[in-house]
This record gives sequence, structure tokens and C-alpha cells, in this order.
Amino acid sequence: MIDRDKAFRILSEIGQEHVLKYFDELNETEQKELLSQIEITDFSVLENLAGDHNSGGERGSFEPLGAVTIKDIASESDRFTQTGVEALKAGKVAAVLLAGGQGTRLGFDKPKGMFNIGVDTELYIFQCLINNLMDVVKLAGAWVPLYIMTSEKNNSETVEFFKEKNYFGYDPAYIRFFIQDMAPSVDTNGKILMESRSKISLSPNGNGGWFSSLVRAGLLDEIKEKGVQWINVFAVDNVLQRIADPSFIGAVIDSGMQSGGKVVSKVSPDERVGVLCLEDGMPSIVEYYEMTEEMRTLLDDNRELAYKYGVILNYLFNVDKLEEICDRKMPVHVVSKKIPFMNDNGELVKPDSPNGYKFETLVLDMVHMQDSCLPYEVVRDKEFAPVKNAEGVDSVESARKLLQANGVKI
Ligand code: UTP
Repeated sequence: MIDRDKAFRILSEIGQEHVLKYFDELNETEQKELLSQIEITDFSVLENLAGDHNSGGERGSFEPLGAVTIKDIASESDRFTQTGVEALKAGKVAAVLLAGGQGTRLGFDKPKGMFNIGVDTELYIFQCLINNLMDVVKLAGAWVPLYIMTSEKNNSETVEFFKEKNYFGYDPAYIRFFIQDMAPSVDTNGKILMESRSKISLSPNGNGGWFSSLVRAGLLDEIKEKGVQWINVFAVDNVLQRIADPSFIGAVIDSGMQSGGKVVSKVSPDERVGVLCLEDGMPSIVEYYEMTEEMRTLLDDNRELAYKYGVILNYLFNVDKLEEICDRKMPVHVVSKKIPFMNDNGELVKPDSPNGYKFETLVLDMVHMQDSCLPYEVVRDKEFAPVKNAEGVDSVESARKLLQANGVKI
């Protein structure tokens, strides 16, 4: 392990010597903990503070991309579903649940999936997702291997919860957990935040590293042994999420494309959602804050929004392609968040508003690494009920209403 002098050199090169401020007051174990953290932390992410925080780098030239629409899907439904069910039966599809986030906007101090969205009955977010996946298991007559990504911050609670709840009826032989990587967080002046005198404040490094973390956890061999060719990646916080949806899988397979993304039609030009489009001729997602006024309002020949299809964090990727792109560097996004930190009096403070930045890679950037991606339009009110905030838009309240509207007993 590195010694204090080496740690000081590493930190002084990047103007972060304050991390060692209390070093001499720590006991031996604490000193070792801190040195080991400094040794293994990738501080290069801090270089991204210099650029445009949101964008994750220079963008190319954008063009709209059409989708397979709700209408198209209705007329091809049987064919798509049959192809999808065959793939599921043959064990060619696995699902990855992204549950490593901290859900700071919701303000719930446990893993978001442990939130009880029920009113008269207990209905945890994880339970909703498992119930949704069970629909497919029943239809296909085959279990879908489910890989759940957690972070060091929430792994044990998540694993324990699933065990305690008996995996909500899912066969545990088909569930695996794996842990994502962490990145340092900084204050608004770019100084690394400390969690305690001996601990750097580390946060999950975004959902973009899910595949490399899966590989590092040794799970790719298992995936390949099972003969899995497609992975459906989805977020923890959409309680109406259709997972391993046979029709979506079938549509992507039949299209011959390398990947697919579920999308919803934007409700207005200004809706704050990333749009699936082309960037320099390749599939890509343009974030709402990256769109010019002209792009936002551009109309197509049918007088509909040209950049119309918003992503809902539900993608289908091909395993071979994922392996090929696995070692490619992904753009790092600098995200403003509420980050608990140790103040000058050595006390841990939980801020009420964003007080610094985290560094995240995003799964949406994987779309731009694909040769092709099929936007697959779904009915918003049937498949999109995000739980992001405690109140208002995309909140517990709005998700409850949508669950009820879809006949889910809450
Ligand atoms: P969000 O972008 O909503 O981030 O995650 P978050 O950290 O959960 O929530 P806020 O912004 O602090 O309120 C979208 C999806 O990606 C997962 C989340 O668990 C969610 O399913 N995610 C996010 C990870 O798995 N790891 C991360 O590091 C970040």
C-alpha cells in the first residue's frame, strides 16, 4: 500500500491535499483505510470539472430518427411477440436492473427499490418490478435471469431485503447481485468532500458502468454459458416498467438491429427528456438541455415533432456488441447533487439542496456506441410511471395514480 508521502504527492498534484488534513490524528487502522482509498480511487474524473458539466463532451450533428410506432406495433404484435417468446424460451434474454443509484431527489434513506409505494397494501418498488417480470415468465414459461446492480452504499440492504421478502416469489436461482464502482465527489469549488476524517466521500459512478461492473463481478462467463444474447437494461424507478417485454425483444430481433430503446412520444417540445435520434449518422440520445430551440420545435412532414421520441431507460443490447465496446472510454457527466459531507467541525451534514458534484457515466451514452438502435414506442400511461421526486412531477403521487389506472392494487 502507498505511504503518506506518496498519498501527499498524488493529492498535491491535483490540488487536493486537504484530504490528509487529519491524517496525524487518526489511529493506525483509520490511516490505512484512508491510504487505501487514495490508492484505489480514480481521481482522473476530476478533470471533467474543467469542461461543460452537463454534456459529457463535444457533440456531433443531430438528425431525427423515426420509431416503430404504437400503430406499427399493434399490427405486428403477434409476430413480434412470437419472436420474443421464442428468444425467452431459448434462454437468449437476461435482464439487468440498475439499482445502484442513491435516489437523492426522493429523499428516502434506504435503497429506492425498498420504498413502499402501496397505500392500503404493502407494495415495494422492487416488488412491482418483480411482479411485472413475472408476467413475462408466465407467458414464456421460462425464468429470465435477473442481474441486479447495487453499489457499496446499498448492496447489503438490498440483498437482505430480497432475502427477507423471499425474492417476491422469483426463483432466487435466477437472481444475481453485483456491485458497481464508486467515484469521489467534490464541493462546488471542486474540492473533494470527506465523509469523515478518514474517509473520502465516494458515490456510485453512474449507471454507464453496468456492463464493465458485471464483467468484473465474473458474471459474463455465466451469461455466455447460459447462451444469453440479449440484455434488457432498465431503471429501478419506473414502476410500470415492462421488463423483457417479448414484443420489444421480437421487434428488435426482427429488425436486425443491434439494439433497441423503449421511447414515449414527447408531450410538449419542452418536456425534459432525452430524445433518441442520430448523431453523425449513428444512434444517439440528445439530452433536453442540449437541444436548440430549432430542434425542439422542428416538425416533420406530418406536422409532428421531428425530435419526438423520449427515452425511458429501458434498452435492449446485444451481448457480443457489449463485449466489443466494454473497454471503450465513456463520457463522464458532472452532476450537481446533494452530497452528505463532513464540515469543518468534523460533523456529518446532510444538505437540503445540491452542494457539490458527482461524476457519472450514463447508460444512454452506450447507445451512441451501437451501429443501430430501434426506437420502440410504448404507451406512456401504460409503461412509464417514474418515481424520482417526493412530490409533484414524476413523484410517488403521480406513480400511484398511474398504477391504479393500470389496475394495480395499491
Ligand atoms: P437517476 O439518474 O435517477 O439517479 O438513476 P439516482 O441516483 O437514482 O437518483 P437521484 O438523481 O439522486 O435522485 C436512473 C437509474 O440508474 C440507476 C438508478 O438506481 C436508477 O435505476 N443508477 C444511477 C445506478 O444504478 N447507479 C448510479 O450510479 C446512478
